[in-house]
Amino acid sequence: MHKSDVGLVGLAVMGRNLALNMLTKGYRVSVYNRTPGRVDDFLRAQGNNVTGTYSLPELVNSLKTPKIILLMIRAGEAVDNIIDRLVPLLNKGDLLIDGGNSFFRDTIRRTQALGKAGILFLGAGISGGEEGALKGPSIMLGGSSCGWEQAAPLLRAISARAPDGTACCAYFGSDGAGHYVKMVHNGIEYAFMQAIAECYFIMKRLLKMPAEKIGHTFTQWNRGKLSSYLIEITGHIFSRIDGESGKPLVELILDLAEQNDTGKWAAAEALNLGVPLSNIAEAVFIRYLSALKEERTAAARLFNSPLREGFPKKEDEEKNKDIKDEDEETNISDLENALYATMIISYAQGFALLGKAALQYGWYLNASEIASVWRAGCIIRARLLDTIIDAYQIKPKAKNMLLMPAFKEILPGLTTGWRKVICLSVQEGVAAPVMASALGYFDMYLTDYLPTNLVQAQRDYFGSHGYKRIDQEGLFHTRWL
Ligand code: 6PG
Repeated sequence: MHKSDVGLVGLAVMGRNLALNMLTKGYRVSVYNRTPGRVDDFLRAQGNNVTGTYSLPELVNSLKTPKIILLMIRAGEAVDNIIDRLVPLLNKGDLLIDGGNSFFRDTIRRTQALGKAGILFLGAGISGGEEGALKGPSIMLGGSSCGWEQAAPLLRAISARAPDGTACCAYFGSDGAGHYVKMVHNGIEYAFMQAIAECYFIMKRLLKMPAEKIGHTFTQWNRGKLSSYLIEITGHIFSRIDGESGKPLVELILDLAEQNDTGKWAAAEALNLGVPLSNIAEAVFIRYLSALKEERTAAARLFNSPLREGFPKKEDEEKNKDIKDEDEETNISDLENALYATMIISYAQGFALLGKAALQYGWYLNASEIASVWRAGCIIRARLLDTIIDAYQIKPKAKNMLLMPAFKEILPGLTTGWRKVICLSVQEGVAAPVMASALGYFDMYLTDYLPTNLVQAQRDYFGSHGYKRIDQEGLFHTRWL
C-alpha cells in the first residue's frame, strides 16, 4: 500500500476542503475523523490518492516518515486530547500542525511540551472559510522552525496566491506567533464587519435605501478604494431574495451576532499589553450587545424608540421625500470615506498590537510580510493592504501606520465625510460605534496634549498617586484640600 504524504484529522467542512485542496495539488492524504461515517462519505466522493483510516494508529501507520499530521478540530480541549493520544504513536522528528483557531498561549504550551518529547509542532492560523480551504487559504505559522522547513512545500502549495504569484503562507516565529497573527486578523475582521454593518444601518435607517440599492452601493464600493472580500460578499448578500417571502434574505435574519473567541482574545490581549485597540474591542462589545436581544426589545418599547423596527412608517416616508438624489450621492461618498478611514484605523490598531507582541514574546513579526500574507485567501484581504505593504517597506519600524507618509496623504481627505457621517449618526440616533470610535482614536492620536492631565490631578487628589509636570523634572504631589 502507498504511504500518504500527510494525515488529516477532522473532516468537518474546513478539514474536508483542505484535504481536497491537498489532493488537487497532487499530495496523497490519509484522513481520520472521530465519526467514521464522515470518513466513508469522504472516500465515496474522493477515492483516488486518499486513505481512509478509522483509528489513530491506523492513521499514523499509513503515513510516510517523518510523519506530518494536520489537526483540523475545534480549538480547546479537543486539541489536547488528540495530541495526548497521538504522541505515543509518533517518533522524534514527526510533525503535528494545529490548523484551528487555537489560543496562542495554548500553542506556546503545546509547542514546549511536544518539543520535550522531540515532536515538532506548528500552530497554523488558517483563514478563508470553506472556499479558502478548498481553493487556497492564507496560512500564518508559528512553532518549530524545523517543522516549518518540513511542511513549507505542502503548506505553500495549498495556500492562496497573491496577484504577484507569491504564496500567502509565512512563518512568523516560535510557538504561538502564527496563532497570534491569526487572532489579530480576526480582530480586524470583527471591526471591519461591524463598520460595514454600521454603513448598512445608516443607508437603511437614515438614507431609506432599499436593500437592492444598498447591495448595489457595496458592489460599486468594491470597485474602488474599499475593494475587499468583505465588501464584495456584502454586495452579494443584499442581492439574495428569500424564496418564500420574496423579501431580501438579510432582512429576515435575526440581529444577534454570535462569536467564537478570537475577537475577545484580541481585545483582552490589547488590554494586557496596554495597546489601544478600541475599534476591535468595540466590535466585540457590539456583538455582546446584540446578544441582549430581549433587553433591547424591552428598552425600545419602554423608551418608545423611534428606531424600533417599522416605526413610524408615515413620517419616515414624508422625510424620505426630502432626500434628493444629490444629497444621497454626497451621503454615500461621505459614508465610503468614513468606512475607508475606519478600515485604515482598524488595520493600524491591529498592526500596533502586533508590534508590541513582537517585543513582548520575542517573535519576528514583520508587518509588511504579514500584510503580504493577508493579500489573498483570507477574510480581510483588501486593496488597502498594497498600500500598507509599501508603507511598512519604507518604514519597517514605524510604531503606528498613522505615522507613515502614505497615510498622512490619505487620511486628511477622508475626515470631512467621516465627521459628517458621525455627526449625522449621533444627531439621528443611528449608532455607528466602531466608525465613531475610530474617529475618536484618530483625533486623540493626533493630539499632543490630551486632557489626561486632569485625570492625573484627580488620581493625585484622591489617591496621592503623584504626577509629573511639563515644566519641571520629578514626581509631585499636592495636598489638594
Ligand atoms: C477566517 C475566519 C474564521 C472564523 C469565522 C468565525 O479567517 O476564516 O476568521 O477563522 O472562525 O469567521 O468567527 P466568529 O465566530 O468569531 O465570528
